Amino acid sequence: MASPLLEVKNLVVRYAIWGGILRHKVGEIRAVDDISLTIDAGETVGLVGESGCGKTTVAKAICNILKATAPGVIEQGEVIFHSANGPVNLLPLGRAEMRAHRADIQMIFQDPFASLNPRMTVREIVERPLIVHTDKSRKARRQIVDSLLERVGLQPADATRYPHEFSGGQRQRVGIARALSVHPKLIIADEPVSALDVSVQSQVINLLRELQSEFGLAYLFVAHDLSVVHHISDRIAVMYLGNLVETGDSEAVYRHPSHPYSQALISAVPHPVAGSSREDRIKLTGEIPTPVNKPSGCPFRTRCWLAREECEQSLPPLQQKESGQLAACPWV
Ligand SMILES: Nc1ncnc2c1ncn2[C@@H]1O[C@H](COP(=O)(O)OP(=O)(O)OP(=O)(O)O)[C@@H](O)[C@H]1O
Ligand SMILES: [Mg+2]
Repeated sequence: MASPLLEVKNLVVRYAIWGGILRHKVGEIRAVDDISLTIDAGETVGLVGESGCGKTTVAKAICNILKATAPGVIEQGEVIFHSANGPVNLLPLGRAEMRAHRADIQMIFQDPFASLNPRMTVREIVERPLIVHTDKSRKARRQIVDSLLERVGLQPADATRYPHEFSGGQRQRVGIARALSVHPKLIIADEPVSALDVSVQSQVINLLRELQSEFGLAYLFVAHDLSVVHHISDRIAVMYLGNLVETGDSEAVYRHPSHPYSQALISAVPHPVAGSSREDRIKLTGEIPTPVNKPSGCPFRTRCWLAREECEQSLPPLQQKESGQLAACPWV
């Protein structure tokens, strides 16, 4: 049986809204609202949903980088990482305690330009985690960087170049090499191909897939685009306004979406599932509410064609559906 590598349990993340001349807290954004999900060793879990639904917030909470980057953030729940020394809840760990686990969980970002220091050469960028997390010699580090660059499809000569000298796809390869340098168990990939040309997207995705089997990596793969996520994920989790509305086996969710929101997302995929026609496409109407004034009950009810009075009362729990996945709608 597959063993869990990461268990997110009842994760809640609230950002502070600051205002006034004295910059005091004037409100809160409930960006992630009680989410639970697991990632097994070697598995890919796809996390999808519209802009602002909280995907990046989940990604950052898992890496425990929110406290350092979002002043006043409140995090609840648990992020249990099953390390070689047993399970540990990462969420409450401070900077120093987190160091022991940083190498195990690496992140790659949507915009490799913003995440790569423009003043560092590619060698310095890829070598940096090795300096921070290992005591390898200069020579050993050099060899590792050279073989990593080659492995991700760059030339050893690229090591002395700077990020701005590369194309978007090549920059993402540098980001991947950096993440791989310390042998992570889990890579959190936050929209790693969204900023790339379509032709380059598939090259980078193929690289990620090859590396997965070679290095035994697990991925949390964040994306807007369900057609991308569906191809590479073992399981899919669909988010809407901070909540998980559906989760399960990738094929089950893609072929038989069992939450109206997932149905709408999948019907928007340019190559519809066999059997459905363009006329079947679901067009979502109504404004997307914001996490600041989230609707009561089911957050999707203001745009849902199946909504009824009960949906205003309480959030439907995730329940098992015929095709095996869990979905938070009793009406599908
Ligand atoms: N540092 C922050 N401070 C305050 N609010 C934030 C912060 N970061 C994100 N938010 C808000 O939290 C909500 C979730 O944002 P998040 O970036 O996690 O969404 P996302 O699903 O990754 O969106 P996208 O697809 O656009 O990347 C949004 O309403 C966003 O405006
Ligand atoms: Mg995001």
